[in-house]
Amino acid sequence: MDKILVHGNRRLKGTVRISGSKNSALPILAAALLTREPCVISRVPDLSDIHYMLTILSELGCEVERASGVVTVKAENVTTEAPYEIVRKMRASVCILGPLLGREKEATVSLPGGCIIGDRPIDLHLRGFEALGAAVRVQSGNVKVLAPELRGSTISLRGKFGSTVLGTDNVMMAAVLAEGTTVIDGAAEEPEVVDLANFLIAMGAKIEGAGTRRIIIEGVKELHGAEHEVIPDRIEAGTFLVAAAICGDGVTLTRVEPGHLTAVLDSLSQAGFQVETDKNRITISPNGTRRPLKLDALPYPSFPTDMQAQMCALLATTDGISVVTDNVFPQRFMHVSELKRMGANIELQGGTAIIHGVEKLSGAPVMASDLRASAALVLAGLQAEGVTEVNRVYHIDRGYESIDDKLNSLGAEIERLKV
Ligand code: EPZ
Repeated sequence: MDKILVHGNRRLKGTVRISGSKNSALPILAAALLTREPCVISRVPDLSDIHYMLTILSELGCEVERASGVVTVKAENVTTEAPYEIVRKMRASVCILGPLLGREKEATVSLPGGCIIGDRPIDLHLRGFEALGAAVRVQSGNVKVLAPELRGSTISLRGKFGSTVLGTDNVMMAAVLAEGTTVIDGAAEEPEVVDLANFLIAMGAKIEGAGTRRIIIEGVKELHGAEHEVIPDRIEAGTFLVAAAICGDGVTLTRVEPGHLTAVLDSLSQAGFQVETDKNRITISPNGTRRPLKLDALPYPSFPTDMQAQMCALLATTDGISVVTDNVFPQRFMHVSELKRMGANIELQGGTAIIHGVEKLSGAPVMASDLRASAALVLAGLQAEGVTEVNRVYHIDRGYESIDDKLNSLGAEIERLKV
């Protein structure tokens, strides 16, 4: 189990290249189950979550090849039950339900447990499958969906916390091979949903409205293989922008899509930073005083919950009082207790963190928890006095491709220790 030492008081400067999106690649790899022909997916990041997905696809009977960032998946003959041992490690495994149901008319995965960021139900996914004509059985920790046939239907995916990203993905992947027309109301609008829809359309699916609250799908008889390049990872990009805000003197991100980050760029501008964008680049620079923020994490296109922890690390040393509310995962504040160990002054009130900015954080041994909270601790360490030891770094490796190397290339001093 690795740990990393983050030496504080370093300044960042230069250019960093953003990887392909984890949260786009995962459902797109699962979508390859919808055809017997080979699919070639490029710009797939080298992450443990991706490794888990490729292992699940192999266990289901797919031929999987990976050559650096290009993955070929051929699902000629597949079984329909994902192995518990791997599924339990990654909630996103749930997105194999839709394509298996669409293609084989049945699928079984272990129910994803809750996790560190809160309860992770899949009731909306299951409601969508039932609307398409599937029967849902939950037994001994597994959920099984099966349907003699799938018929298009009108489905609402509006939940208490907004829509569901993987739920929209799952229903879309089941509906593309259903008889007739499916309308998904209250669909998630995230760019990763659009990227999946574009891949499905390249496979021969008929989909309109991806990226809006209302997606319309005309079922087709079968899908064929396709090639696709995954979009840039907007959360990795946002994480580097916040690192550059914390201790940068001009950092440029390349191979990024500024249009996927407008809420994050707006927040950083409001916080007092100069943000410049052009086609596939974003540059952030200090611009005099920093300002506290009132931030509300909400479904896309609002400020993303996956960037909430990172912003708390920035606001922890921003003079004044900031208020951060996570309306998507109200319990997603595992980073707060660890930031307080570093000297941050934060109080939690339900799903809201009240942050009183302090002059400086001090390095300390801290414990990584969820993927984004772990990244926030590394960012906090960059600005702290002394060394911050981040344990259980495997959390970070799930979603960031060589984050230590990339930060070191900008001037950070981060050591990775094998323990
Ligand atoms: C996706 O998870 C992302 N993961 C998450 O990123 C991200 O935080 C989340 O969307 C929200 O943007 C991937 O794409 C692999 P949801 P997902 O279903 O789809 C509730 C990261 O750090 N809900 O959109 O699982 C749910 O509890 C990860 O990269 C229901 O109530 O999230 C939550 O409060 C973490 N019933 C809200 O909706 C359901 O059936 C949003 O969840 C499904 C969800």
